[in-house]
Amino acid sequence: MPKLETLEVLLIQEIKDLYSAENHLMKALPKMAKAASHPKLQAAFQKHLKETGGHVTRLEEIATLLEGTPRGKACKAMEGLVEEGEEAIKEDGDPAVKDLALIGAAQKVEHYEIASYGTARALAESLGLKEVAALLQSTLDEEGNTDKTLTALAEEITPAAMEKAG
Ligand SMILES: [Fe+2]
Repeated sequence: MPKLETLEVLLIQEIKDLYSAENHLMKALPKMAKAASHPKLQAAFQKHLKETGGHVTRLEEIATLLEGTPRGKACKAMEGLVEEGEEAIKEDGDPAVKDLALIGAAQKVEHYEIASYGTARALAESLGLKEVAALLQSTLDEEGNTDKTLTALAEEITPAAMEKAG
């Protein structure tokens, strides 16, 4: 592993970390869609699964532009977040409450990604790598929209969860 001597090295490390994170998510999202009860939440997870496939491809493109490989790093943070998501998946209980648990787990993932992509984009901008910055921004926009969709769904599902808790 090269030392953190330049911003280029730091950027490629961030890309590797994100690549590992997105690949973890590719495996987790189908399980989350299956565990969700509300059809809109299932659809949101399915939609984000498709987008995540695009995020993986963009990271490969970025690595090529940086003349590096996106492979070779394990994102421990995403492993942990996905593990927590798995706990929500396995949990029994009221479907609306469980949906809210899944949304909570998914939003933690999105916020982590938004932080990581924001850092990577800032590094790319500092280095004058406009194409890389634009690719990262495209993904950042999709992560942000997913987060907003999840917030809206939580607001929609919450009344049903409150009713049953009576
Ligand atoms: Fe993503």
